[in-house]
Amino acid sequence: MTTDAHAGATGPADLRAHLDARRGVCPVDHDGLGTWTLLRHADVVAAATDPETFSSAAGRHRAIPNSLDGAEHAAYRAVVDRYLTDAAVAEQEEQCRAHAAAIVAALPRGRTVGAIADLGAPFAVRTQTTWLGWPAELEGALVAWMADNHDATRSGDLTRTAAVAARFDELVGSLVRERREARDAAPDDVTTRLLHETVDGRPLTDAEVVSILRNWTAGDLGSLAACLGVVVHRLATHPDRQDVTRERVARGEHAAIEAAIEEVLRIDDPFVSNRRRATRDVEIGGRTVPAGDRVLLSWTAANRDPEVFGDPDAFRPEENAAANLVFGVGPHVCPGRALTLMELRVAVSELLAGTERILPADDEAPVREAPPVGGWARVPVVLK
Ligand code: HEM
Repeated sequence: MTTDAHAGATGPADLRAHLDARRGVCPVDHDGLGTWTLLRHADVVAAATDPETFSSAAGRHRAIPNSLDGAEHAAYRAVVDRYLTDAAVAEQEEQCRAHAAAIVAALPRGRTVGAIADLGAPFAVRTQTTWLGWPAELEGALVAWMADNHDATRSGDLTRTAAVAARFDELVGSLVRERREARDAAPDDVTTRLLHETVDGRPLTDAEVVSILRNWTAGDLGSLAACLGVVVHRLATHPDRQDVTRERVARGEHAAIEAAIEEVLRIDDPFVSNRRRATRDVEIGGRTVPAGDRVLLSWTAANRDPEVFGDPDAFRPEENAAANLVFGVGPHVCPGRALTLMELRVAVSELLAGTERILPADDEAPVREAPPVGGWARVPVVLK
């Protein structure tokens, strides 16, 4: 039986193996420096659904809506949700399909290509810029920003992360300012529409619009490319699942394809964790977390908790759907879930429709990301 194949992978160890082992020994893990990591499903859900005790105001910067709590969070979250409804997502499907088809058609056949670098990254950037109404010339700058953002996150260096965030603000801030200045002559796109949104009866400031766009972009670009890497790796290494998915694509079984994608991401969740701060001394998983300490919710570990999922590598989309935490839970649950699943379904569908076979490359092994980043750094495949 094939389990989640990472045989033959090179590079850093699989973060999941480390988290699985750690959960068994120390499910509420303290680093001795004021940061606790929750690794069990029950503890992660408890913290994510108790925002009064586990505040999202855990970083140094205000991020809209991610770092907000309570009524303030709800007010900004309502704005964000309006852009990510099922109807809004359905409107984007055509442009996503066109970008995916063009990227797949241009990929060489019979030679090694990177599922993340050559498919995931350009697909994420092009669909995002089209959705938001940004100029196509921004693609190069955004791909470069994505790589820097990723390296800064991996370094754990907060000064670097802040510098990368500031560069994004410059890049997108100028688009926002141009639209503000153009008034009625501004293009009618998502970015312009955001400028007209109000919270508490006043329009959003430019800084707030840029913050919202940064959280969409950071969510979309890096994570989408990483998710596609996980899914394409799975298809290449599980020929039986690839056959089933090809049949589903041919029959247009959208819901079944998306459910399978979400389950594959549960097994190998590249969106590793989010931060909270304890607002009072709180007991969780048998340990007492003091007020003020940081708490990491490890989605990757919780999604593989045997107490909930049994064998974490067993592919059981229907049975595991209700407990799946790839998109979080509670008031901060990902508003981009429907968009993400549609984008991944469309990318996978176009990749399968445009090929006879996706095979693991035989001249290059896949490379795992270095913790704390999850998923794969490189997924070399050959398209036939
Ligand atoms: C690509 C795969 C994605 C994954 C795996 C993912 C996962 C998550 C998770 C786990 C959370 C919860 C965070 C928390 O509890 O602190 C979250 C929040 C969020 N996500 Fe996503 N996300 C993805 C894509 C997207 C996309 C495409 C967008 C928007 C275009 C997006 C926008 C957001 C925002 C704005 C939040 C914060 C929500 C809030 O604080 O209320 N995400 N995401």
